[in-house]
Amino acid sequence: MAKIGIFFGTDTGNTRKVAKMMAKKIGEDAAKPLNINRASVDQILEYDYLILGSPTLGDGELPGLTAGAENESWEESLPDLVEADLSGKTIAMYGLGDQEGYPDNFVDALGIIYDELSTSGATFVGSWPTEGYEFTSSQAVVDDEFVGLVLDQENQSDLHEERIDQWLESISGDFGFA
Ligand SMILES: Cc1cc2nc3c(=O)[nH]c(=O)nc-3n(C[C@H](O)[C@H](O)[C@H](O)COP(=O)(O)O)c2cc1C
Repeated sequence: MAKIGIFFGTDTGNTRKVAKMMAKKIGEDAAKPLNINRASVDQILEYDYLILGSPTLGDGELPGLTAGAENESWEESLPDLVEADLSGKTIAMYGLGDQEGYPDNFVDALGIIYDELSTSGATFVGSWPTEGYEFTSSQAVVDDEFVGLVLDQENQSDLHEERIDQWLESISGDFGFA
């Protein structure tokens, strides 16, 4: 069985696309990415290594019905995951956002998920430098770094490939894939 579970939220598909790119690049160690709104906590707990992805919607909100998403998403799934014991799990996160459109809430959802899961016992890896982005405020910044990989589909999609490659390389040791 693949040892890396990739779970994403999405409204318009960008975050799904990135999940698929990552799975392809990782290869056989990665399971087929699954929308978080279709994943049970038990399914998530099957993996010791997790990649969790989310866009930010609303004004700095999790994707989900409150933020106007078409389907349920992280907003509805996160409470159950917060109740779970994630000790022994290694988590790396990525977030999509729009730094020009939402400079005051840039990729906030990444920070919200991180905050909610920070007491779950999991080890977080894959923080990412803020250099190369222009924004005013972001809940995803902790100790001057983003808590995970940040991708901006609207303004910097040309950098996705390079950023994803670099980030996967940076977590490959912790996650144990080549
Ligand atoms: C209604 C709406 C609200 C958004 N709010 C934010 C926001 O607060 N912060 C941010 O960084 N990006 C925001 N974005 C940008 C999305 O995160 C970005 O378009 C992302 O690529 C969407 O991913 P998805 O296709 O997986 O849903 C917003 C986009 C929309 C359409």
